[in-house]
Amino acid sequence: MTGGSFFNIFFILFPMLFLLPQSSVAKPAFFMRDFHTTWAESHLKLLNNGAAIQLSLDPSSGCGFASNNKFMFGHVRMKIKLVPGDSAGTVTAFYLNSATEAIRDELDFEFLGNRSGQPYTVQTNVYAHGKGDREQRVNLWFDPSADFHTYSILWNHQHIVFFVDAIPIRVYKNNEARGVAYPNAQPMGIYSTLWNADDWATRGGLEKIDWSKAPFYAYYKDFDIEACAVPGARSDCNTVSSWWDAPSYHQLSPIQARAYRWVRLHHMIYDYCTDRARYPVAPPECFAGI
Ligand SMILES: *[C@@H]1O[C@H](CO)[C@@H](O)[C@H](O)[C@H]1NC(C)=O
Repeated sequence: MTGGSFFNIFFILFPMLFLLPQSSVAKPAFFMRDFHTTWAESHLKLLNNGAAIQLSLDPSSGCGFASNNKFMFGHVRMKIKLVPGDSAGTVTAFYLNSATEAIRDELDFEFLGNRSGQPYTVQTNVYAHGKGDREQRVNLWFDPSADFHTYSILWNHQHIVFFVDAIPIRVYKNNEARGVAYPNAQPMGIYSTLWNADDWATRGGLEKIDWSKAPFYAYYKDFDIEACAVPGARSDCNTVSSWWDAPSYHQLSPIQARAYRWVRLHHMIYDYCTDRARYPVAPPECFAGI
């Protein structure tokens, strides 16, 4: 199948088959109430009475924010509009992090800017119990700076799924039975940052930030956190059952699996699992299917 024909089918079926539930527990998050600035308040601006925020990067600083709560399991979603035009060297990130350095769990979405007209790259990574080095990269099939798109992470006991507009781009399964660490013992906070990473981000660091184009802006809105808060009203996120623990979320649906194959076939540009220079023997989780 070509990328194009899948795309058409995808959009016809999208509303019915892809949407994660807008369940009754859906709780939109608000910046003022649910997040705080972690880096350079001067570079972070609330828009529309706090419904959206603008992050900026200039030669003096980038900036960042984080959630006030930590969470264990759930679904975290936000809409992001990335730095437009010549964004080479900039990185905009959205990630979950346990903030426990040596034994850190972390789930990363990193959006690597590019020269005008070149594709944006989404890098994902999974740290479990302090061990990361599990990068995958997908070039986006649309211009993520032209409009807001939805980016989300589903985290339950069975797997972690990274979604772009409800299309799975990365799945990390719970392979504890094979001795692979899985993030399920520590709560994680939600973080976002915009910073200068031109020592590595674009074409391996060859493309530098063009500061004559600064300031660079990225926008976030529609924060939606459906997750078990720690500390929170529920005492134990591991035993409580929520929609994200329902059997239908234990694996991708057939149509999601098909969309995921389409991404891997047509848009994936790097997978640590197949990088033999780095891993002469692929790490154990790579053999457990996708
Ligand atoms: C930037 O564009 C180049 C050329 O199309 C591409 O090879 C690369 O994957 C893109 N992304 C990054 C982050 O370098």
